[in-house]
Amino acid sequence: MENYFADPQRYNNGMQYERCGRSGVLLPKVSLGFWHNFGGVDPYERSREITHYAFDHGITHFDLANNYGPPYGSAEETMGRLMDDDFRPYRDELFISTKAGYDMWPGPYGNWGSRKYLMASLDQSLRRMHLDYVDLFYSHRYDPETPLEETLQALVDVVRSGKALYVGISRWPLEATRTAFRYLKERDVPCLIYQGKLNMLDREPQEEGILDLCREAGVGFISFSPLAQGLLTDRYLNGVPEDSRMSKGKFLRPDMLTDELLEKLRRWNAEAQDRGETLAEMALSWILDQPGVTSVLVGASSTAQLQKNLRCVK
Ligand SMILES: NC(=O)c1ccc[n+]([C@@H]2O[C@H](COP(=O)([O-])OP(=O)(O)OC[C@H]3O[C@@H](n4cnc5c(N)ncnc54)[C@H](OP(=O)(O)O)[C@@H]3O)[C@@H](O)[C@H]2O)c1
Repeated sequence: MENYFADPQRYNNGMQYERCGRSGVLLPKVSLGFWHNFGGVDPYERSREITHYAFDHGITHFDLANNYGPPYGSAEETMGRLMDDDFRPYRDELFISTKAGYDMWPGPYGNWGSRKYLMASLDQSLRRMHLDYVDLFYSHRYDPETPLEETLQALVDVVRSGKALYVGISRWPLEATRTAFRYLKERDVPCLIYQGKLNMLDREPQEEGILDLCREAGVGFISFSPLAQGLLTDRYLNGVPEDSRMSKGKFLRPDMLTDELLEKLRRWNAEAQDRGETLAEMALSWILDQPGVTSVLVGASSTAQLQKNLRCVK
């Protein structure tokens, strides 16, 4: 295995950084997610190559969660291996996040939003990633059964313990989000960022008022699945390729690709071409243009995809 030395020009390769809400943190306009393509089932050398390309092009933010893989936990194990093989000398240049909120281990304490689950999960994540702390720890989803204060106090205590520098929430509904922002601010652990799905096909955080709330509260916003898992690229315009997420996974199913959707994608693709862009580039730029958006959190199954997507940073 060849040694990795980060490109000395990595901060002059075109990346731009955006302030995350009213915080001291700057995030790259494009961040890299480990949901797919970094699990135990994926070739390590390819995962490694993608992260090298990312970091060499100024992507300092890697986003994980306890159950990314498959199998669960294995994306974090890949991150741990990457730390040992390549990234340890660059730890202070990286902004690494993880989350807990979805099912992770069996029994009553391996899911949702209890203090018991969040605390144990973060300890496991740190062990898998070979890290002393994460930069950002998220509640991955709102738990309607657990008192909000219990989940939020766990986030406060995680920061106080030094295991995370900042906290965030993901996929929380509007009113609970408002409470969360207030609760965390009153305890001097302000919410750094909200992670939600915003893309040209799914504008819920905008329509629901989450984005406005983030702006008012000085909280950043990062958009996950900004390419709608690949739909907002040229991937499916002429059929479903064998190596695509749609042909393999359970999260993007062929029945989602209706004739109506395909027609819309083809129309947008033509519009993008008229502008001299790819559909992916246009879709990412559209998100970055929305007021309040800090970063787009892309996935990539190859370095070439990431390379193309980075063109949205102008
Ligand atoms: N908070 C949450 O609940 C939540 C939920 C989902 C995701 N996330 C975060 O968001 C990250 C990104 O999610 P995502 O992977 O769904 O993002 P995405 O950027 O919408 O989709 C990525 C997929 O699109 C395809 N693709 C990307 N660029 C392409 C290009 N230029 N041309 C053709 N195809 C391209 C690839 O799929 P192929 O495999 O087909 O090549 C790639 O794996 C995750 O890794 C995770 O960190 C968070």
